[in-house]
Amino acid sequence: MIRVDRDVAVAVVTVDREDALNALDASTLTELRDALGHLAQDDDVRVVVLTGAGDKAFIAGADIKYMSGLDVGQAKEWGALGHEAGGLLETMPKPTIAAINGFALGGGCELALACDIRFAATGAKLGQPEVNLGIIPGWGGTQRLARVCGLGVAKELIFTGRVIGADEALRIGLVNAVHDPVLEKARETAALLASKSPIALRMMKELANRALGGDHASNLKAEAETFGELFASEDAKEGMTAFVEKRPPAFKGR
Ligand code: CAA
Repeated sequence: MIRVDRDVAVAVVTVDREDALNALDASTLTELRDALGHLAQDDDVRVVVLTGAGDKAFIAGADIKYMSGLDVGQAKEWGALGHEAGGLLETMPKPTIAAINGFALGGGCELALACDIRFAATGAKLGQPEVNLGIIPGWGGTQRLARVCGLGVAKELIFTGRVIGADEALRIGLVNAVHDPVLEKARETAALLASKSPIALRMMKELANRALGGDHASNLKAEAETFGELFASEDAKEGMTAFVEKRPPAFKGR
């Protein structure tokens, strides 16, 4: 099951299937996709944190027992469902943070990769071991791992299925920081982000998501255009006025 805990503007989404190391079966992944869809649209939620129940696993991947019975058509639908969940994490108009508290394997690593920021506990283990099952990463791993860590590193990891620890994940840029307890670090960063202008965050996320694809010149043009348009927002006026008046800004999201 999926738990959503709200603390003012921060929502913590917990995948809670501890007896299967939070592996995602059809009902859990559907519930996760639906929960993310609601949080994406809820303007009162400024930041979303994704984590796993217990201290052993973030998400140990797609549920292999469930997957082993799928035919081609069902497997395509299963892949599409995972992509929907990943797509929501990647494109929802607010920051998403993965608090990786243990195994983040296969689809678990892929959902973490779809988040904007990743933090890991010292004991976390990450990887794309699909190759050992005779399959490939199916929820974004062949694309997003390369975008985060570079193509050479990504190919080695997806070809070998090698599982890495938090230190190596930090070294290759797969996670932003290593910290125990990892949820505390994620909550701290989420609270910091929740104090920023949600409009500026939304625009930066949208623009940054274009950075590794599309046409560089038109992406830069889009940035220049958006930069100018933001000057119509109350938040921009408040932020700059507060600096001039030597006081902290109070952003309203308008
Ligand atoms: N699917 C289904 N069940 C899983 C699971 C998974 N991905 N990962 C763990 N479990 C279950 C185990 O079957 C076991 O259940 P039972 O007690 O009923 O047997 C329980 O969780 C505990 O796991 P272990 O006893 O194996 O725990 P361990 O500490 O010995 O090993 C582990 C932990 C190394 C993570 C091992 O469980 C493992 O290798 N899991 C599979 C990881 C994996 O391959 N993930 C990728 C899945 S494919 C995918 O995600 C496709 C995609 O791209 C979308």
